[in-house]
Amino acid sequence: MKIVMVGSGYVGLVSGACFADFGHDVVCVDKQESKIEALNRGEIPIFEPGLSELVRSNAAAGRLSFTTDLAGPVAQADAVFIAVGTPSRRGDGFADLTYVYAAAREIAQSLDGYTVIVTKSTVPVGTGDEVERIVRELRPDAAFSVASNPEFLREGAAIEDFKRPDRIVIGAEDERAREVMADIYRPLYLNSAPILNTSRRTAELTKYAANAFLATKITFINEMADLCEQVGANVQDVARGMGLDNRIGGKFLHAGPGYGGSCFPKDTLALIKTAQDHGTPARIVETVAAVNEQRKRAMGRKVVAACGGSVRGKTIAVLGLTFKPNTDDMRDAPSLAIVTALLDGGARIRAFDPEGMQQAKAALPGEVVYCTDAYDCVTEADAAVIVTEWNIFRALDLDRVKQLMKSAVLVDLRNVYRAEQVRAKGFQYTDVGRGILPPAEAEAGAA
Ligand code: UDX
Repeated sequence: MKIVMVGSGYVGLVSGACFADFGHDVVCVDKQESKIEALNRGEIPIFEPGLSELVRSNAAAGRLSFTTDLAGPVAQADAVFIAVGTPSRRGDGFADLTYVYAAAREIAQSLDGYTVIVTKSTVPVGTGDEVERIVRELRPDAAFSVASNPEFLREGAAIEDFKRPDRIVIGAEDERAREVMADIYRPLYLNSAPILNTSRRTAELTKYAANAFLATKITFINEMADLCEQVGANVQDVARGMGLDNRIGGKFLHAGPGYGGSCFPKDTLALIKTAQDHGTPARIVETVAAVNEQRKRAMGRKVVAACGGSVRGKTIAVLGLTFKPNTDDMRDAPSLAIVTALLDGGARIRAFDPEGMQQAKAALPGEVVYCTDAYDCVTEADAAVIVTEWNIFRALDLDRVKQLMKSAVLVDLRNVYRAEQVRAKGFQYTDVGRGILPPAEAEAGAA
């Protein structure tokens, strides 16, 4: 199959490289010349494990190429995927569809022979209808269908998620489009990934519903974590006890500083807006988004409390800045709100992240001091905070950390350490949702 991927960002690049790896002929298009030039030199603009090898091997095999010219490849294509950004619109939080519609107009000009136009970007219900209308208006003569094929990959595990997905959702309105999509995903049929054929609108909504539900799970367990701290219960055990029930499932029940990233914050807001516009407000999702937003700054207050109620004049070492490990992505990372809260409280910030330093420098306030590694970061610090659970923070030499710090205060917002182990080393240790019963109540309980 001949495939064009319009937009060589996260989703476009990963999907393009994986489709090429399935044996399809893929051209990735992007407006940004410098990005395309870099890709043609084999340089990958994002950090994603395995992606650079996949791009290089498929480019070398002649199945994957990069260009700024959309017209030529689209004329030859069986399917053109739209994988451009859909950021939150300033002001109302609705998905900004400017780039999607601009891509649709450009694609329309070059269509030649039957082509399926597929939205892979996360787009609100009804976007496919509008894409169809735009293309039909510009090219009443063209043979095409518009399908929706949302992408569920996670950053940091994107290739694995793409190649071994839990399911593939294809929303198409006619049989011909479904057949083209089936041919494209044929290699996954062999891996027996369930393919869900739905209407276009259903596919569009499924993506939002899935992301909003996962965001709800995280927010729910985060609230349970707060309660655990008050009543002396352990949220990890609560999550395990819940998750072993197959109806609930154990995933996305890790308590932490709140969700961030390029999808959950943006997609929950867009779903809220769509639901409001249709007169069926999504109250649960509205609450989830609000609770998560407050939580990020509340984590700053947690650090202040661990420092005895004030961070004024104190040095705080922030370990991990990206919204999760194995990515360099800082979009809506909890670290942004936490660092800002600490700076507001008068703290000096030293920070380190294994991959996200460059992006962090652009996103965080200017006065943050960037360090060369975790040990450099904690040097002379009054407290250290683990914000992102990178593997290297899971196995720190705690004796060395203690020696380097001014005072041994560790706030572990991802529960990567065992409390007894860290306290035994002489740290004052704070975690998330692993409450300790105050001695008086513990005695009363035992009696
Ligand atoms: C998410 C969806 O998982 C994916 O299906 C969709 O295509 C895009 O959005 P991603 O944003 O890459 O993927 O990361 P994910 O692993 O889902 O984590 C999102 C955020 O939730 C991170 O900030 C993470 O730290 C947080 N999280 C996740 C938790 O706090 N607890 C959990 O149990 C799981």
